[in-house]
Amino acid sequence: MNKIVFAFLCLMILSKSAISQSVASPDGNLSLRFELKDSVPYYYLDFKGKPIILKSKLGLKVANGDSFLKGFGIKDYNTSAFKEDWNPVMGETKTINNHYNQLRVILAQPSLQREIAITFRLYDYGLGFRYEFPEQANLNYFVIKEEETQFALAGNHKAWWIPGDYDTQEYNYTTSSISEVAALWPKSYDGNASQTPVKNAIQTPVMMKSAGGIYLNIAEAALIGYPAMHLAVNSKTNMLKTHLTPDAQGMKGYIQTPFNTPWRTIAVTESAENMLTVGPHLLLNLNEPTKYATTDWIKPVKYIGVWWEMIMGKSSWAYADLDNVHLGETDYSKLTPNGKHAANTEYVKKHIDFAAKHGFDAVLVEGWNEGWEDWFGKSKEFVFDFVTPYPDFDVKGLNEYAHSKGVKLIMHHETSASVTNYERWIDTAFKFMDKFGYNAVKTGYVGNIIPRGEHHYSQWMIDHYLRVVKKAAEHKILINSHESVRPTGLSRTYPNWIAAEAARGTEYEAFGGNNPEHTTILPFTRLMGGPMDYTPGIFQTKMDYYFPGDHRFVKTTLVKQLALYVTMYSPLQMAADIIDNYDRFPDAFQFIKDVAVDWDDTKVLKAEPGDYILIARKAKGKDEWFVGGITDENERTLPIDFNFLEPNASYVATIYEDGKDADYINNPQRYKIYKKIVSSKTKLNQKLARSGGVAISIKKATKEDLKRIKK
Ligand code: NOJ
Ligand code: CA
Repeated sequence: MNKIVFAFLCLMILSKSAISQSVASPDGNLSLRFELKDSVPYYYLDFKGKPIILKSKLGLKVANGDSFLKGFGIKDYNTSAFKEDWNPVMGETKTINNHYNQLRVILAQPSLQREIAITFRLYDYGLGFRYEFPEQANLNYFVIKEEETQFALAGNHKAWWIPGDYDTQEYNYTTSSISEVAALWPKSYDGNASQTPVKNAIQTPVMMKSAGGIYLNIAEAALIGYPAMHLAVNSKTNMLKTHLTPDAQGMKGYIQTPFNTPWRTIAVTESAENMLTVGPHLLLNLNEPTKYATTDWIKPVKYIGVWWEMIMGKSSWAYADLDNVHLGETDYSKLTPNGKHAANTEYVKKHIDFAAKHGFDAVLVEGWNEGWEDWFGKSKEFVFDFVTPYPDFDVKGLNEYAHSKGVKLIMHHETSASVTNYERWIDTAFKFMDKFGYNAVKTGYVGNIIPRGEHHYSQWMIDHYLRVVKKAAEHKILINSHESVRPTGLSRTYPNWIAAEAARGTEYEAFGGNNPEHTTILPFTRLMGGPMDYTPGIFQTKMDYYFPGDHRFVKTTLVKQLALYVTMYSPLQMAADIIDNYDRFPDAFQFIKDVAVDWDDTKVLKAEPGDYILIARKAKGKDEWFVGGITDENERTLPIDFNFLEPNASYVATIYEDGKDADYINNPQRYKIYKKIVSSKTKLNQKLARSGGVAISIKKATKEDLKRIKK
């Protein structure tokens, strides 16, 4: 088509179209307005007639050609509605409702003879929108310099945030108003093995609360083929703007049409409880249904591991104390073992026995393979081959032993962020797993990425994480990725991506400490996009138990560690402490043995980011409930209303509560366990210690129970 005819056609279409279009959520409470002003696209979001997002620009800057910023006309638009119920393979609820109204606006740049679309989806609890680039004669390839999407906040909200960083999210949260972000930003982070903080930017999902008590969460869904989004903050104007993670050349994304960006999401609720309930649904619903033909091989996992003792320094991943090994050349059988290598056959057997005895599905073993002597911080490319066990680790014998006891070993692939090396080995590594009967792997990306100059969240790495997940699916392998990008609801499409770390986990209690409020914030931020391998269950919180004079301690009571199995949703849960410590507290350990990790239903009873979370969940396929409550550094009393239980039925509740004079500093291991008959009418005022918790398991009462146990 010649240029003039094309422009003419577009103008004809334009003259028929209004310059502004709106769409509302199914319940009518949220409304989105799209507007084209002076050929530039904008959007607005209102909740119950009040502005949530003020006039905000849409567009992208291109590095090697014309940008998608101006010169637009509306070529066409259409609206549609969608409604379905779907069942996640594993999840917080059995069914998820996906109900939205959609507005799709097709924008033409007549002078360039090309067009793009912006699709908006309005849910009762939020908005998702994305840019779509159809394949066309004048738009095949382009390079993104920056995405220019704005989020003009309607107020100076309170925010729970971590600093923007191209390589890590392993930070404690800062709580401040948006206007204070610039001043607090320099103090918002501490050291990490790989970090590239982005000045005055914050990461997503970011949790906010308006002065009027509206809860707002900005995130992204379906991050595929595109770099992860940070938000640049203008503290003077309450304006947030996308800032994508660059590659070594400072470019953001290399695109070939047809292409859709990830969804930019804004969840909006009137209560914190509802935000925890529906926030994750927004991200899941904006992802595609699973592409896998079968998913029956994807099962929840409760596991123990040879792990915490390395993290806190009692044992080592390495076999020998050397700092210079050559993989494939060094003869490990000739090295002198350092005597601290935990992943040895005898010790792993002890773990398999423990897992079998207490009903765990699996045992993670780290430090089983050659290369850990100089794995870290050397920018060495060939660090591991993922298939060569240390001389004291009998890979065949141990897998056979585990399988004979109904337990599986979990593989560990620490890549040391040498990703080129991992991609070279991955086929061999997965075949090795098949051969020995491993069906789950924990991957890790500690350190600066190789190819050098790439970042943990740049486009190439985003592609890598998904490549690994898809390749793993060919082998029916589950992936638990550490130091990977934060999840964006992709577990709907790729449910074998069972969990990720991608935040500051329990390990940091040994590296620099997690604030007592940390776990009251994570479900409002990181967990919006998917499950986290937080690794709770540390009973021995003070490290001077192992190393006299060591001041490190896990800032929690023992009971709070139990509660985390309920408050931190994940179908993959670890009992992370050294197993001997569970033998010291068998009655408290019973809760970890009993607690479910996959659920039919979830009720968020009470929550406020940074303060407390109280959740009740019903186990998948069972008439059993579990309640978990946690608090920050303050003690508090949480009212528990058992009205989530089936009416007119009696249940036995086993209540695990903080003991007398216990808190996270003094007597953290003191707890009390008692049983009580409860029904849907029961109400309890439950006291939680400073950084303490409450954990309750609830089962239908037998006649015997009713005779024996008090109401
Ligand atoms: C960091 C991970 O988060 C941790 O779980 C793991 O043990 C170490 N890397 C070593 O791979
Ligand atoms: Ca980590």
